Amino acid sequence: MSTKGYFRIRLSTIRPSEDIPFAIYIYIDGKMVEYVRLGDKLAAEKIASLHGRDTGESFFVEEINKPLYRDYVKDSMNSSKINNDQKATILRESSIAILEDLFEAPDVGQAIEETKPIVKDLLEFMENAPESVGGLISLSGHDFYTYNHSFDVSIYSLGLGSALGFDKKTMEELGLGSLFHDVGKRMVALDILCKRGPLDDSEWVQMKMHPQFGLKILNESPNITDGIKAACYEHHESWKGGGYPQDLSGQEIHPFARIVALTDTYDAMTTQRSYNVPMRPVEALNMMKEKLTHKFDPEMLKAMYSVLFKMDNAA
Ligand SMILES: [Fe+2]
Ligand SMILES: [Fe+2]
Repeated sequence: MSTKGYFRIRLSTIRPSEDIPFAIYIYIDGKMVEYVRLGDKLAAEKIASLHGRDTGESFFVEEINKPLYRDYVKDSMNSSKINNDQKATILRESSIAILEDLFEAPDVGQAIEETKPIVKDLLEFMENAPESVGGLISLSGHDFYTYNHSFDVSIYSLGLGSALGFDKKTMEELGLGSLFHDVGKRMVALDILCKRGPLDDSEWVQMKMHPQFGLKILNESPNITDGIKAACYEHHESWKGGGYPQDLSGQEIHPFARIVALTDTYDAMTTQRSYNVPMRPVEALNMMKEKLTHKFDPEMLKAMYSVLFKMDNAA
Protein backbone atom coordinates (compact mmCIF):
# COMPACT_ATOMS: atom_id res chain seq x y z
CA MET A 1 0.00 0.00 0.00
CA SER A 2 1.44 3.32 -0.98
CA THR A 3 0.84 5.55 2.00
CA LYS A 4 4.41 6.80 1.99
CA GLY A 5 4.67 10.38 3.12
CA TYR A 6 1.56 10.03 5.31
CA PHE A 7 0.83 8.66 8.75
CA ARG A 8 -2.40 7.28 10.17
CA ILE A 9 -4.58 9.10 12.63
CA ARG A 10 -7.83 8.25 14.39
CA LEU A 11 -10.68 10.68 14.05
CA SER A 12 -11.46 10.33 17.74
CA THR A 13 -8.36 12.45 18.37
CA ILE A 14 -9.87 15.39 16.44
CA ARG A 15 -11.60 18.12 18.49
CA PRO A 16 -15.11 18.80 17.13
CA SER A 17 -16.18 22.21 15.79
CA GLU A 18 -12.68 23.67 15.91
CA ASP A 19 -10.39 24.68 13.05
CA ILE A 20 -8.16 21.75 12.23
CA PRO A 21 -4.58 22.93 11.63
CA PHE A 22 -3.76 20.24 9.04
CA ALA A 23 -5.45 18.53 6.13
CA ILE A 24 -6.84 15.03 6.62
CA TYR A 25 -6.75 12.48 3.82
CA ILE A 26 -8.43 9.19 3.06
CA TYR A 27 -6.91 6.42 1.03
CA ILE A 28 -9.17 5.33 -1.82
CA ASP A 29 -8.32 3.03 -4.71
CA GLY A 30 -4.60 3.44 -4.24
CA LYS A 31 -4.74 7.21 -3.99
CA MET A 32 -4.65 9.76 -1.18
CA VAL A 33 -7.66 12.04 -1.41
CA GLU A 34 -7.97 15.23 0.62
CA TYR A 35 -10.97 14.81 2.89
CA VAL A 36 -10.78 17.71 5.34
CA ARG A 37 -9.02 20.84 4.18
CA LEU A 38 -6.57 22.73 6.34
CA GLY A 39 -8.58 25.07 8.60
CA ASP A 40 -11.90 23.24 8.13
CA LYS A 41 -13.99 21.98 11.02
CA LEU A 42 -15.70 18.67 11.71
CA ALA A 43 -18.90 18.51 13.72
CA ALA A 44 -19.07 16.05 16.60
CA GLU A 45 -21.79 13.98 14.85
CA LYS A 46 -19.70 13.75 11.71
CA ILE A 47 -16.68 12.56 13.68
CA ALA A 48 -18.80 10.01 15.50
CA SER A 49 -20.36 8.62 12.33
CA LEU A 50 -17.05 8.49 10.46
CA HIS A 51 -15.22 7.05 13.41
CA GLY A 52 -17.68 4.20 13.47
CA ARG A 53 -16.27 3.18 10.10
CA ASP A 54 -12.71 4.08 11.03
CA THR A 55 -10.75 0.86 11.24
CA GLY A 56 -7.59 2.77 11.88
CA GLU A 57 -6.57 2.25 8.28
CA SER A 58 -8.44 5.00 6.62
CA PHE A 59 -7.45 8.49 7.79
CA PHE A 60 -4.09 10.07 7.20
CA VAL A 61 -2.10 13.25 7.70
CA GLU A 62 0.98 14.26 5.76
CA GLU A 63 4.22 13.14 7.34
CA ILE A 64 5.56 16.72 7.35
CA ASN A 65 2.68 17.65 9.64
CA LYS A 66 3.58 15.07 12.27
CA PRO A 67 5.03 17.68 14.69
CA LEU A 68 1.89 19.77 14.16
CA TYR A 69 -0.32 16.78 14.94
CA ARG A 70 1.71 15.99 18.05
CA ASP A 71 1.29 19.59 19.26
CA TYR A 72 -2.41 19.40 18.48
CA VAL A 73 -2.75 16.26 20.62
CA LYS A 74 -0.62 17.88 23.34
CA ASP A 75 -3.04 20.83 23.39
CA SER A 76 -5.93 18.41 23.92
CA MET A 77 -4.03 16.75 26.74
CA ASN A 78 -3.50 20.12 28.41
CA SER A 79 -7.01 21.43 27.81
CA SER A 80 -9.21 22.01 30.83
CA LYS A 81 -12.29 21.51 28.63
CA ILE A 82 -11.50 17.84 28.09
CA ASN A 83 -11.88 15.46 31.01
CA ASN A 84 -9.32 12.82 31.97
CA ASP A 85 -11.31 9.92 30.57
CA GLN A 86 -11.56 11.63 27.18
CA LYS A 87 -7.86 12.40 27.44
CA ALA A 88 -7.13 8.72 28.02
CA THR A 89 -8.98 7.90 24.78
CA ILE A 90 -7.15 10.61 22.85
CA LEU A 91 -3.78 9.47 24.18
CA ARG A 92 -4.53 5.86 23.39
CA GLU A 93 -5.84 6.50 19.88
CA SER A 94 -3.10 8.93 18.92
CA SER A 95 -0.41 6.61 20.26
CA ILE A 96 -1.79 3.48 18.62
CA ALA A 97 -2.08 5.09 15.20
CA ILE A 98 1.54 6.21 15.35
CA LEU A 99 2.64 2.83 16.68
CA GLU A 100 0.91 1.04 13.81
CA ASP A 101 3.23 2.80 11.42
CA LEU A 102 6.28 2.40 13.63
CA PHE A 103 5.70 -1.32 14.12
CA GLU A 104 5.95 -1.77 10.39
CA ALA A 105 8.94 0.51 9.92
CA PRO A 106 11.88 -1.43 8.53
CA ASP A 107 14.34 0.36 10.82
CA VAL A 108 13.47 -0.85 14.31
CA GLY A 109 16.18 1.26 15.94
CA GLN A 110 14.58 4.39 14.57
CA ALA A 111 11.09 3.13 15.43
CA ILE A 112 12.14 2.66 19.06
CA GLU A 113 13.68 6.12 19.04
CA GLU A 114 10.40 7.59 17.74
CA THR A 115 8.44 5.64 20.33
CA LYS A 116 10.25 7.30 23.25
CA PRO A 117 7.99 10.39 23.32
CA ILE A 118 4.92 8.12 23.38
CA VAL A 119 6.24 6.30 26.45
CA LYS A 120 7.04 9.65 28.08
CA ASP A 121 3.47 10.83 27.43
CA LEU A 122 2.06 7.62 28.90
CA LEU A 123 4.17 7.94 32.04
CA GLU A 124 3.17 11.56 32.42
CA PHE A 125 -0.50 10.69 32.06
CA MET A 126 -0.23 7.84 34.57
CA GLU A 127 1.32 10.23 37.04
CA ASN A 128 -1.15 13.08 36.49
CA ALA A 129 -4.37 11.11 36.15
CA PRO A 130 -3.91 7.75 37.90
CA GLU A 131 -7.67 7.38 38.26
CA SER A 132 -8.11 7.37 34.47
CA VAL A 133 -5.39 4.87 33.58
CA GLY A 134 -8.03 2.17 33.04
CA GLY A 135 -9.27 4.26 30.11
CA LEU A 136 -6.02 3.62 28.26
CA ILE A 137 -6.88 -0.05 27.92
CA SER A 138 -8.66 -1.10 24.76
CA LEU A 139 -12.34 -1.86 24.96
CA SER A 140 -12.63 -3.17 21.43
CA GLY A 141 -11.89 -6.80 20.96
CA HIS A 142 -10.55 -6.94 17.46
CA ASP A 143 -6.88 -6.74 16.72
CA PHE A 144 -5.82 -7.64 13.25
CA TYR A 145 -2.22 -7.35 14.18
CA THR A 146 -0.62 -6.82 17.55
CA TYR A 147 -0.94 -3.06 18.10
CA ASN A 148 -3.74 -3.04 20.64
CA HIS A 149 -2.23 -6.02 22.37
CA SER A 150 1.23 -4.47 22.60
CA PHE A 151 -0.16 -1.18 23.79
CA ASP A 152 -2.25 -2.82 26.53
CA VAL A 153 0.66 -5.00 27.61
CA SER A 154 2.78 -1.88 27.98
CA ILE A 155 0.13 -0.12 30.11
CA TYR A 156 -0.16 -3.12 32.44
CA SER A 157 3.63 -3.52 32.50
CA LEU A 158 4.19 0.11 33.42
CA GLY A 159 1.59 -0.25 36.17
CA LEU A 160 3.47 -3.27 37.47
CA GLY A 161 6.84 -1.56 37.15
CA SER A 162 5.58 1.37 39.16
CA ALA A 163 4.14 -0.97 41.83
CA LEU A 164 7.59 -2.59 42.00
CA GLY A 165 9.20 0.82 42.56
CA PHE A 166 11.18 1.16 39.31
CA ASP A 167 12.85 4.51 38.70
CA LYS A 168 11.96 6.80 35.80
CA LYS A 169 14.72 5.65 33.46
CA THR A 170 13.91 1.98 34.07
CA MET A 171 10.24 2.72 33.48
CA GLU A 172 11.01 4.31 30.11
CA GLU A 173 13.03 1.28 29.08
CA LEU A 174 10.29 -1.06 30.31
CA GLY A 175 7.72 0.91 28.31
CA LEU A 176 9.73 0.40 25.12
CA GLY A 177 10.50 -3.25 25.87
CA SER A 178 6.87 -4.10 26.51
CA LEU A 179 5.67 -2.21 23.43
CA PHE A 180 8.12 -4.11 21.24
CA HIS A 181 7.91 -7.51 22.97
CA ASP A 182 6.19 -9.14 19.99
CA VAL A 183 8.16 -7.35 17.27
CA GLY A 184 9.27 -10.80 16.03
CA LYS A 185 5.70 -11.52 14.94
CA ARG A 186 6.32 -9.42 11.88
CA MET A 187 8.27 -12.43 10.59
CA VAL A 188 5.42 -14.88 11.30
CA ALA A 189 3.06 -15.52 8.39
CA LEU A 190 -0.05 -13.33 8.56
CA ASP A 191 -2.46 -16.24 8.09
CA ILE A 192 -1.00 -17.83 11.21
CA LEU A 193 -1.22 -14.59 13.21
CA CYS A 194 -4.81 -14.01 12.19
CA LYS A 195 -6.01 -17.60 12.25
CA ARG A 196 -9.31 -18.13 13.99
CA GLY A 197 -9.12 -21.39 15.86
CA PRO A 198 -6.22 -23.37 17.27
CA LEU A 199 -2.92 -23.58 15.42
CA ASP A 200 -1.70 -26.93 14.16
CA ASP A 201 1.73 -28.27 15.11
CA SER A 202 3.71 -26.75 12.28
CA GLU A 203 1.98 -23.40 12.75
CA TRP A 204 2.90 -23.47 16.43
CA VAL A 205 6.52 -24.12 15.54
CA GLN A 206 6.54 -20.93 13.51
CA MET A 207 4.59 -18.93 16.08
CA LYS A 208 6.98 -19.97 18.83
CA MET A 209 9.87 -18.62 16.81
CA HIS A 210 8.75 -15.03 17.39
CA PRO A 211 11.07 -14.34 20.36
CA GLN A 212 14.08 -15.43 18.27
CA PHE A 213 12.84 -13.48 15.26
CA GLY A 214 12.41 -10.47 17.53
CA LEU A 215 15.92 -10.69 18.94
CA LYS A 216 17.30 -10.96 15.44
CA ILE A 217 15.44 -7.82 14.38
CA LEU A 218 16.54 -5.89 17.48
CA ASN A 219 20.15 -7.02 17.09
CA GLU A 220 20.25 -5.45 13.67
CA SER A 221 20.03 -1.98 15.24
CA PRO A 222 22.71 -0.46 17.43
CA ASN A 223 21.85 1.18 20.78
CA ILE A 224 18.99 -1.11 21.73
CA THR A 225 19.31 -1.89 25.42
CA ASP A 226 19.58 -5.37 26.93
CA GLY A 227 16.33 -4.78 28.83
CA ILE A 228 14.41 -4.16 25.61
CA LYS A 229 15.96 -7.24 24.02
CA ALA A 230 15.19 -9.36 27.08
CA ALA A 231 11.53 -8.27 27.15
CA CYS A 232 11.34 -9.57 23.60
CA TYR A 233 13.52 -12.67 23.77
CA GLU A 234 12.57 -13.99 27.23
CA HIS A 235 8.87 -13.17 27.62
CA HIS A 236 7.80 -16.76 26.96
CA GLU A 237 10.13 -18.18 29.60
CA SER A 238 8.53 -19.67 32.67
CA TRP A 239 9.36 -19.00 36.37
CA LYS A 240 9.75 -22.71 37.19
CA GLY A 241 11.30 -23.54 33.81
CA GLY A 242 9.83 -25.19 30.75
CA GLY A 243 9.34 -22.02 28.74
CA TYR A 244 10.92 -21.12 25.41
CA PRO A 245 13.25 -20.46 23.68
CA GLN A 246 16.00 -20.95 26.28
CA ASP A 247 14.22 -22.79 29.12
CA LEU A 248 15.44 -20.31 31.73
CA SER A 249 13.97 -20.15 35.21
CA GLY A 250 13.52 -17.83 38.22
CA GLN A 251 15.92 -14.91 38.50
CA GLU A 252 17.73 -16.02 35.33
CA ILE A 253 14.86 -14.39 33.49
CA HIS A 254 15.22 -10.63 33.13
CA PRO A 255 12.72 -8.72 35.33
CA PHE A 256 11.24 -7.02 32.24
CA ALA A 257 10.57 -10.42 30.69
CA ARG A 258 9.01 -11.69 33.91
CA ILE A 259 6.73 -8.66 33.90
CA VAL A 260 5.76 -9.08 30.24
CA ALA A 261 5.19 -12.83 30.70
CA LEU A 262 2.56 -11.94 33.25
CA THR A 263 0.90 -8.96 31.56
CA ASP A 264 0.99 -10.71 28.18
CA THR A 265 -0.88 -13.74 29.53
CA TYR A 266 -3.28 -11.55 31.44
CA ASP A 267 -4.09 -9.52 28.33
CA ALA A 268 -4.57 -12.66 26.23
CA MET A 269 -6.98 -14.09 28.79
CA THR A 270 -9.06 -10.97 29.22
CA THR A 271 -9.52 -9.87 25.59
CA GLN A 272 -11.15 -11.49 22.65
CA ARG A 273 -8.31 -11.34 20.21
CA SER A 274 -8.22 -14.84 18.84
CA TYR A 275 -10.54 -17.75 19.35
CA ASN A 276 -10.85 -17.60 23.11
CA VAL A 277 -13.72 -16.32 25.19
CA PRO A 278 -12.49 -13.39 27.29
CA MET A 279 -12.35 -13.80 31.05
CA ARG A 280 -13.16 -11.24 33.68
CA PRO A 281 -10.12 -9.63 35.37
CA VAL A 282 -10.41 -11.42 38.70
CA GLU A 283 -11.22 -14.72 37.02
CA ALA A 284 -8.10 -14.44 34.87
CA LEU A 285 -5.83 -13.51 37.76
CA ASN A 286 -7.17 -16.32 39.93
CA MET A 287 -6.62 -18.81 37.16
CA MET A 288 -3.08 -17.51 36.71
CA LYS A 289 -2.52 -17.92 40.43
CA GLU A 290 -4.08 -21.37 40.71
CA LYS A 291 -3.41 -23.12 37.42
CA LEU A 292 -0.47 -21.24 35.91
CA THR A 293 1.42 -20.33 39.05
CA HIS A 294 4.59 -22.14 37.86
CA LYS A 295 4.88 -19.63 35.06
CA PHE A 296 5.09 -16.38 36.96
CA ASP A 297 7.28 -14.64 39.51
CA PRO A 298 5.12 -14.96 42.66
CA GLU A 299 6.03 -11.49 43.96
CA MET A 300 5.03 -9.93 40.67
CA LEU A 301 1.79 -11.90 40.50
CA LYS A 302 0.94 -10.55 43.93
CA ALA A 303 1.72 -7.00 42.84
CA MET A 304 -0.45 -7.43 39.75
CA TYR A 305 -3.54 -7.71 41.94
CA SER A 306 -2.97 -4.24 43.34
CA VAL A 307 -2.26 -2.80 39.86
CA LEU A 308 -5.54 -4.15 38.50
CA PHE A 309 -7.44 -3.19 41.56
CA LYS A 310 -6.39 0.40 40.98
CA MET A 311 -7.21 0.27 37.27
CA ASP A 312 -10.54 -1.43 37.82
CA ASN A 313 -11.49 1.17 40.34
CA ALA A 314 -10.66 3.71 37.71
CA ALA A 315 -12.59 2.13 34.86
FE1 LIG B 1 4.84 -13.19 22.54
FE1 LIG C 1 2.41 -10.75 23.37
